[in-house]
Amino acid sequence: MSNLNRYSGMQYNRCGQSGLMLPALSLGLWHNFGGVDTLENSRAMIIKAFDLGITHFDLANNYGPPAGSAEETFGKILKSDLTTHRDELIISSKAGYRMWDGPYGDGGSRKYLLASLDQSLKRMGIDYVDIFYSHRFDPDTPLDETMAALDYAVRSGKALYAGISSYRPQQTLEASKILKSLNNRCLIHQPSYNMLDRWIEDGLLDALEAEGIGCIAFCPLAQGMLTDKYLKGIPKDSRAGKPTGFLRPQQVTKQVISKVTALRKIARQREQSLAQMALAWVLRDNRVTSALIGASSPGQIEENVKTLKNLKFTEKELTQIENILK
Ligand SMILES: NC(=O)c1ccc[n+]([C@@H]2O[C@H](COP(=O)([O-])OP(=O)(O)OC[C@H]3O[C@@H](n4cnc5c(N)ncnc54)[C@H](OP(=O)(O)O)[C@@H]3O)[C@@H](O)[C@H]2O)c1
Repeated sequence: MSNLNRYSGMQYNRCGQSGLMLPALSLGLWHNFGGVDTLENSRAMIIKAFDLGITHFDLANNYGPPAGSAEETFGKILKSDLTTHRDELIISSKAGYRMWDGPYGDGGSRKYLLASLDQSLKRMGIDYVDIFYSHRFDPDTPLDETMAALDYAVRSGKALYAGISSYRPQQTLEASKILKSLNNRCLIHQPSYNMLDRWIEDGLLDALEAEGIGCIAFCPLAQGMLTDKYLKGIPKDSRAGKPTGFLRPQQVTKQVISKVTALRKIARQREQSLAQMALAWVLRDNRVTSALIGASSPGQIEENVKTLKNLKFTEKELTQIENILK
């Protein structure tokens, strides 16, 4: 590990009303850290991120492909490079989507969540995760049961904090109430949020503020669409170009590209790349604790961290952006 000044260039934001600070940018291992990817590149990205002050790494049981392999990759890198830094890291994992066959490998049951957490800890070679999430609301499991499983994860020392992901505002309020009734709390909510996907502005951010819950926004670059990447078509080595990518080529529509082209002009005037402006925009609301980026190279992480040099927007810029996004 090379950068002894890693903490000076990063901004750390308080996560809701908790004692925990998270970096303004966190790194997610959904894509490009699986068994199909190159270990050396995954390692270079994690080291680059940490050297730039990114202390938070986000995982889930099913990240890969194959499912589980991103946790294995992270475990290897933790062991080879970061063991002495464990207490400087916030590592999260989740369970909620299908992970293994049969009735116990999906959803929000206590059975699934706690078995999955044990598997995640084994794959990563750690005793505890910092945050354990219910990855999605499960309409078929009583919310009491899912929250009691998160509470147990914390009480047993296998997780330090509990989180929820993609829960709607009302579900979030109920989850928070249940955790409080157990003398626990919901630390954080992980929703999607970017210039092209703004559902959290319709009630979720207000609910989080009222409950003192932090917010970490996933896909802040709309999986890469809010960058220069797709301006001239779909590159083969991009997420939309790869067979294992979750971004489908059909999602990169003409309408999206015309918005992106217009947004890019504003970014240029701000002397930022479009990616940097898109990240600054997600962070403009101080209820958003962290923007959870993905990356396929150390260079992208470097570019994205430079966002912090200009996080402010003028009213005029915000209006211009609104007009483009309408
Ligand atoms: N809770 C949930 O249900 C959920 C769902 C989805 C994601 N997440 C979390 O959120 C994390 C981030 O999601 P995401 O990867 O979709 O985030 P994202 O930041 O919106 O997209 C990341 C992709 O954008 C491209 N990119 C990043 N920086 C770039 C730059 N400077 N210039 C050009 N292209 C750039 C890269 O695409 P290429 O690979 O094409 O280069 C990169 O893989 C995940 O890893 C995961 O931890 C959570």
